[in-house]
Amino acid sequence: METAMTFQEEIKQGIPTVLPEAKPYSSDANHAPKRKDILSVEEKQLAVRNALRYFPKEWHQELAEEFAQELKDLGRIYMYRFKPSYHMKARSIADYPAKCQQAAAIMLMVDNNLDPAVAQHPEELITYGGNGAVFQNWAQYLLAMKYLSEMENDQTLHIYSGHPMGLFPSSADAPRVVVTNGMMIPNYSKPDDLEKFNALGVTQYGQMTAGSFMYIGPQGIVHGTTITVMNAFRKVLNKGEGPQGKIFLTAGLGGMSGAQPKAGNIANCITVCAEVNASAATKRHQQGWVDELIDNIDDLVARVKAAQANEEVVSIAYIGNIVDVWESFYEHEVYVHLGSDQTSLHNPWSGGYYPVDISFEESNRLIREEPEVFKEKVQATLIRHANAINKHTALGTYFFDYGNAFLLEASRAGGDVMAENGIDFKYPSYVQDILGPMCFDYGFGPFRWVCASGKPEDLDKTDAIAASVLKKIMQESPEEIQQQMQDNITWIEDAKQNKLVVGSQARILYADAQGRMEIAKAFNDAVNSGEIGPVVLGRDHHDVSGTDSPYRETSNIYDGSRFTADMAIHNVIGDSFRGATWVSIHNGGGVGWGEVVNGGFGMLLDGSAASERRLKSMLLFDVNNGIARRSWARNEEANFAIKREMARTPKLKVTLANLVEDDILNNLSL
Ligand SMILES: NC(=O)c1ccc[n+]([C@@H]2O[C@H](COP(=O)([O-])OP(=O)(O)OC[C@H]3O[C@@H](n4cnc5c(N)ncnc54)[C@H](O)[C@@H]3O)[C@@H](O)[C@H]2O)c1
Repeated sequence: METAMTFQEEIKQGIPTVLPEAKPYSSDANHAPKRKDILSVEEKQLAVRNALRYFPKEWHQELAEEFAQELKDLGRIYMYRFKPSYHMKARSIADYPAKCQQAAAIMLMVDNNLDPAVAQHPEELITYGGNGAVFQNWAQYLLAMKYLSEMENDQTLHIYSGHPMGLFPSSADAPRVVVTNGMMIPNYSKPDDLEKFNALGVTQYGQMTAGSFMYIGPQGIVHGTTITVMNAFRKVLNKGEGPQGKIFLTAGLGGMSGAQPKAGNIANCITVCAEVNASAATKRHQQGWVDELIDNIDDLVARVKAAQANEEVVSIAYIGNIVDVWESFYEHEVYVHLGSDQTSLHNPWSGGYYPVDISFEESNRLIREEPEVFKEKVQATLIRHANAINKHTALGTYFFDYGNAFLLEASRAGGDVMAENGIDFKYPSYVQDILGPMCFDYGFGPFRWVCASGKPEDLDKTDAIAASVLKKIMQESPEEIQQQMQDNITWIEDAKQNKLVVGSQARILYADAQGRMEIAKAFNDAVNSGEIGPVVLGRDHHDVSGTDSPYRETSNIYDGSRFTADMAIHNVIGDSFRGATWVSIHNGGGVGWGEVVNGGFGMLLDGSAASERRLKSMLLFDVNNGIARRSWARNEEANFAIKREMARTPKLKVTLANLVEDDILNNLSL
């Protein structure tokens, strides 16, 4: 008779020695959509052959048929049968079977990314973004966890797009894991290449923090959106004026966009967020992410006028089309201070953006049955949308693109969004105007940590430590970054009450190089003294140095180098030999396959002197690599930040740019 294995035994076993029972396709899970059927018959054979590499010959006949069926039904082979029986979630670091703590920390982070409370399509090993994968299939998960359980602290596990190639001898200071996701020969990086090579089982889309085991649920996006909204208000308000009673008008209450009303509340304004899908709006309302629901445009106008008059801080979801809101606010003279949009215009023709004047249901029918008509309606709506925004901006509204391709698609549709030079857009993107110059160029970015004990009290203690470190640093911060420091202190002081933890005991905090290093050192001291358990450090890839992405993270690089990816590559290589516990580098992430290269790291603080040495060396480089590049691109704020860092760190010597007078260039005959 079979006895159930313990969690630790199951991990140590890896691929089981006895073929597990086939698992029925679970009907209650949120499954990934069926992927494009793109392989030829020969290629399908190759995909099955590739999948069978993980298993003994005796199982091949049975598994070949099952995998072929998965490929047919879903476009991918996930190997559901091999999904472990234990509940997937981040356990305490002490619960993992491991020979070194660093490996146990990585296991904890992997499991967090696959926790059904955290992951979008957990059965398909997808953490977020529809396709952000941790592994391609369950065999890869089982093997990787087994390797981690066996790993000693002079070995490194190399993972190729989810596939654990193996443990290689290295050294105690080397990373324990090196991850690459979706790295392609550049000419094979078109969207259909991803579909094909992913279906063959030889590459995957790691998004940013999915494939690097560093996702921490929605709090990351709430913090980034809060910083963006607060700083956008600062661009339009007079000194001493607050956002209370001022309107931030936007759209979308979906995955990431659903953070907007919560961020608006934290930033103290009136948020009006249109959402065509009533069930998405209701879900956000039930979760407490938006305060009020209104489905009638006249009621909305009356409600916002009252909120303006009373200087309220409130978030309102309007169930309907965003274009109606822009038009009717203009007609009824409702002044909008900030405007943006987070409909999914990176995906305009299959439901990312809904046309005005037809119902949600009718739109969905058109997508399926009359896609050409749907496309025309979307384009006509985009033209109206742009016209309505233009009327508001003529009155003084500040509009910014939220990295969702609104301006790109509006321009393609013929909307009036181009600048006079015919090359640029009329309006900036959030990175060009806000996150780039106000945060990234100074080194502020989404630093994060996870308390590996799994104890909420440890998280409270780390919040308090981080707040006190920042307050101390702020006393000597230059004028240029005082505001950022204060915002981050406010964020960390309010973090617990904002109830943002989902999954592991994690916290995000925008901090610069000095802040990250001093906070990390204080954590390591607290681990050493036994005040808290070990801490895992990391960051979103959407940061100062981690990501080369010409239309997002590096959109405020103007020396022509924004189409290069040297910074992200240097970042991950540089972090790897300065003490990262694991590093990862990905093609794709946020804006799409072939459009971005992004990397990140994880680092375990175990309280040791070695941890202290590593954190100082690696965090200094991890941030300043990007500041150096931004400064070389002539960004003023980065130039200020890198000079300050060189004064603090004598061994840092960065090449500085000389600025040329415009007249010299203008008088050239070219
Ligand atoms: N939040 C961020 O920090 C951030 C950063 C970069 C890019 N983005 C971009 O923002 C977009 C949204 O991301 P998401 O995860 O929320 O996507 P999502 O698809 O989950 O949500 C978008 C929502 O917009 C709604 N919508 C579509 N058309 C509408 C219309 N005309 N009027 C009103 N509502 C409409 C949809 O019903 C949907 O619920 C994506 O393109 C993403 O890449 C967000």
